[in-house]
Amino acid sequence: MNAAKETIFGYWTRWAPNFDAAASHVRYRTAWQEVLAAAVPCPPRRACLDLGTGTGACALTLAAIGHDVTGLDGAPGMLAEARRAAGEQGLDIAFREGDVDATPFADASFDVISARNLFWTLPDPDRTMREITRLLRPGGVFLFSDGLWRTDTVAPEASSHDMTDYVQVSDELPYYRGLLGEQADALLDFHGFTGRTHWEQRFTTHLYAHQAVGACPFFVVTARRPLA
Ligand SMILES: C[S@@+](CC[C@H](N)C(=O)[O-])C[C@H]1O[C@@H](n2cnc3c(N)ncnc32)[C@H](O)[C@@H]1O
Repeated sequence: MNAAKETIFGYWTRWAPNFDAAASHVRYRTAWQEVLAAAVPCPPRRACLDLGTGTGACALTLAAIGHDVTGLDGAPGMLAEARRAAGEQGLDIAFREGDVDATPFADASFDVISARNLFWTLPDPDRTMREITRLLRPGGVFLFSDGLWRTDTVAPEASSHDMTDYVQVSDELPYYRGLLGEQADALLDFHGFTGRTHWEQRFTTHLYAHQAVGACPFFVVTARRPLA
């Protein structure tokens, strides 16, 4: 495995027990549930894959809405938290350990793929987009959320928690500082996704107002894999 990925998975495994307490988007579960239910309504019950599922926050919400959910992550520590939470909430979710760039799933096996706060930490986002395209059935929905987490005026070291591991591999991560909705739109266009809809304006509270850079911009967008 790529050395940067090993560093990244080690980092998240170490942080896993503290992640839910530190990550503000996990605290706003009701707001996320409303937005995800609007973006990916149930019925119909759909086969969803949450990539970089972490402690499973998005996967748990999609399952609570009624979908059939699989969560994939490379950090065993994060998955342990996700499995524990699913058990506590009585939700049946298949959590798998693996790399989002080389998943064990068959072509076109999912109706919906979500990736929240994953892309800033990827070494090859285009490769990940190709894997998402392979895994989605034609017409399937990609739900993509991320934000601009670090700016040039704020050093990565000024983050609210120790990012030393990430500073070491940051040159290998094209979106390390995060990305704007416009960049996400360009990535979706480049990979042929259509029918983009933005959902971030539905949140009445800023989910990331605590970040070192202040109320940094974030986006939530859905788009469809083309039918052909
Ligand atoms: C910032 S956390 C986001 C977790 C979750 N999606 C959420 O919204 O709370 C990023 C997660 O992506 C995972 N991750 C990063 N790169 C990955 C890769 N190449 N394959 C699988 N998981 C990856 C990390 O292990 C970590 O759990």
